[in-house]
Amino acid sequence: MEFQRVVAERYSVRGYTQATVGQDSLARVLEAARLAPTATNRQPFRIYVISTSGREAELRKIYDRDWFVQPPFVICVCCLRNKGWVRGDGKDFGDIDCAIVMDHIVLAATDEGLGTCWVANFNVSEARSFLGISADLEPIAFTPLGYPDKPPTEKRRKSLDELVVMVG
Ligand SMILES: Cc1cc2nc3c(=O)[nH]c(=O)nc-3n(C[C@H](O)[C@H](O)[C@H](O)COP(=O)(O)O)c2cc1C
Repeated sequence: MEFQRVVAERYSVRGYTQATVGQDSLARVLEAARLAPTATNRQPFRIYVISTSGREAELRKIYDRDWFVQPPFVICVCCLRNKGWVRGDGKDFGDIDCAIVMDHIVLAATDEGLGTCWVANFNVSEARSFLGISADLEPIAFTPLGYPDKPPTEKRRKSLDELVVMVG
């Protein structure tokens, strides 16, 4: 798909079919994540690909929505703490690296005709215990991954005038 179309067609999908996601599609989505840029190329992240089948009740403890557990997969991007680049003023870019990784996942999924929805409002301790991760890994965001069960609604966005400051 042409890039501007991918950007325009992506939306937060909150309803999925249970149709299988092909291994080739999943591989392309994960490859897009692997190629994401990270500060000083440290790649301080891990991606968990969770098959939802049979795990719906556990996943609902992480984020209790029907649509979260409907598709075949849920993906979680985790940050490897103390492995990302820290700027001189102390700002840690690990979370930003993970956001870029998730955005690559989301856009590559759109290109495959798949739906996603960023989920940050999850139960962190339930996520930690489900994934079995230690303190050096922090779950940053989840997304379901599967085929949308309905068409998108219209995007509501501020105008460019409100968002952009031209300097010079
Ligand atoms: C960092 C981030 C966190 C988000 N967390 C949630 C969430 O926990 N639950 C949810 O339903 N949507 C979540 N969203 C989706 C936003 O609500 C959505 O992207 C926004 O309303 C714009 O709609 P659109 O994605 O359909 O264009 C999140 C989006 C981002 C970027």
